[in-house]
Amino acid sequence: MRQKIVAGNWKMNKTYQEGIDLAIEIDKLVAEKGNKNVTVVVSPPFTHIAEVNKVVNNDRISVAGQNCATETSGAYTGEISAEMLWSAGADYVILGHSERRSYYGETNELLKAKIRKALEFNLTPIYCVGEVLEEREANKHFDVIKEQLETVLFDLDKEDFEKVVIAYEPVWAIGTGKTASAAQAQEIHKFIRDLLAKKFGGLAQNTSILYGGSCKPSNAKELFANPDVDGGLIGGAALTAEDFLGIINGF
Ligand code: 13P
Repeated sequence: MRQKIVAGNWKMNKTYQEGIDLAIEIDKLVAEKGNKNVTVVVSPPFTHIAEVNKVVNNDRISVAGQNCATETSGAYTGEISAEMLWSAGADYVILGHSERRSYYGETNELLKAKIRKALEFNLTPIYCVGEVLEEREANKHFDVIKEQLETVLFDLDKEDFEKVVIAYEPVWAIGTGKTASAAQAQEIHKFIRDLLAKKFGGLAQNTSILYGGSCKPSNAKELFANPDVDGGLIGGAALTAEDFLGIINGF
């Protein structure tokens, strides 16, 4: 189901207590002043997930993991399984973030396996796609995104495809203060939806496609006003409850 979603990716930030305090503050602000038409997701580090899930009202706020393993369980030291995330209270998992692709060598093939494992354990994948600056400058961004989508999602059955959320995050806009313009975001979001429609037909109209990359309260409204932008995946501005609320209320 297509929804308006604002998801905060905390990345590797906040100690345990800081994270719990932030979750409590976000929950309070969302309850008091948050746009009720927006699905709010927070994605803390793994160690915080179970407690964050307890301190927020789950009717208002869902919790996401930032990664999961390709395997179900077993001798994989340091990995976190989809089932563990689910059992700690997560409903979503971010997969394919550009930081995982570039720093940890995650490939489209690997992400294909992770997406399937997440779906098997009832997690909604937030699957990230996006080009680096050199690819955009060489006008290769459409091809890069097409491959990221086709390789990873196109052999899902329709029932599973319907559960996937997409996040377009141009790598050059992440943490740089450079946001894609509203027109640039809309252009790619429409490209993504049209591509998905070629494979999955009318179901693509139900896919939530989020924008990520230096999204702030000051630019959220303009970005979210686009017909194919269904919300945001937020990094830095998700670490401050007031800023995160400002983005949620960009709708
Ligand atoms: P920033 O909002 O800090 O640019 O990060 C975006 C992001 O990577 C969210 O996943």
